[in-house]
Amino acid sequence: MLKHFLQFKDLSRDELLYLFERARVIKSRFKRYQPYHPLVDRTLAMIFEKSSTRTRLSFEAGMHQLGGTAIYLNTRDTQLGRGEPVEDAGEVISRMVDIVMIRTYEQEIIKRFAAHSRVPVINGLTNEYHPCQILADIFTFIEHRGSIKGKTVAWVGDSNNMCNTWLQAAEVLDFNVHVSTPPGYEVEPERAGLYGTDNFESFADPMDACRGADLVTTDVWTSMGWEAENDERMKDFADWQVDAEMMQVAKSDAIFMHCLPAHRGEEVTAEVIDGPQSVVWDEAENRLHVQKALMEYLLLGKIES
Ligand code: CP
Ligand code: NVA
Repeated sequence: MLKHFLQFKDLSRDELLYLFERARVIKSRFKRYQPYHPLVDRTLAMIFEKSSTRTRLSFEAGMHQLGGTAIYLNTRDTQLGRGEPVEDAGEVISRMVDIVMIRTYEQEIIKRFAAHSRVPVINGLTNEYHPCQILADIFTFIEHRGSIKGKTVAWVGDSNNMCNTWLQAAEVLDFNVHVSTPPGYEVEPERAGLYGTDNFESFADPMDACRGADLVTTDVWTSMGWEAENDERMKDFADWQVDAEMMQVAKSDAIFMHCLPAHRGEEVTAEVIDGPQSVVWDEAENRLHVQKALMEYLLLGKIES
């Protein structure tokens, strides 16, 4: 059956646990220079309507390492930027390649594309969600600290695509998220695609959100698409900077994550992101490994390790 990964909850808990284990195996073989080419002759189309370093590189390199090919498309150079309906693009592109990754604006765009696609579609970031990043983040947590079940993640900052996806992941994998956003930037459970509010708690003070947390994480104050609000956001978010004091009230073995790109001195201090509790480079690298497991799963189903 055709399977897409448009939001985190598109995969069940069992499927996610399978992917984390599979990512571990794929990563370990890769580190031992053992070639693994299950996707020979398969082609990935990567459609970017927003900028990217990590997502493009990890998907392109990942597809290459699995024996396949990746093609980069952007709005500027394709008919998508000249008003070709996204439904038509879905029909055509999915007749020419085996799998598609899209980074775009509204989630509705990727849903419309997927509804007209004959092949799996992966969300490489939308305004609402960033599911591949959270796959990598949770895989990184597991590598460093073991199962995330029952653990507490502190989210400090904007209730953006990363925050929404953490909240969805908490429901599927049964952990808790303590969220602290400035007034006016609160979580909207419906937009986040949540079933309820059991797995998250909101805190007015970011210090309270971080208290006792196993993982402290944040993201830029101004996401792609919101640049016009930048000056206002710099003022509104000034007290939501993750600093040493916040890390101090988290568990003593708490780790820090950021999906990157980061702005030192804004959402996080250099002391924290470059400090001993930060795992941001492992987190970035793990995009490669989890997405290889994801593409393999969407194209070939479960593989016996
Ligand atoms: N974290 C992330 O998705 O980075 P890029 O915007 O560089 O792809
Ligand atoms: N929230 C950020 C993430 C970038 C990877 C954005 O959407 O711009």
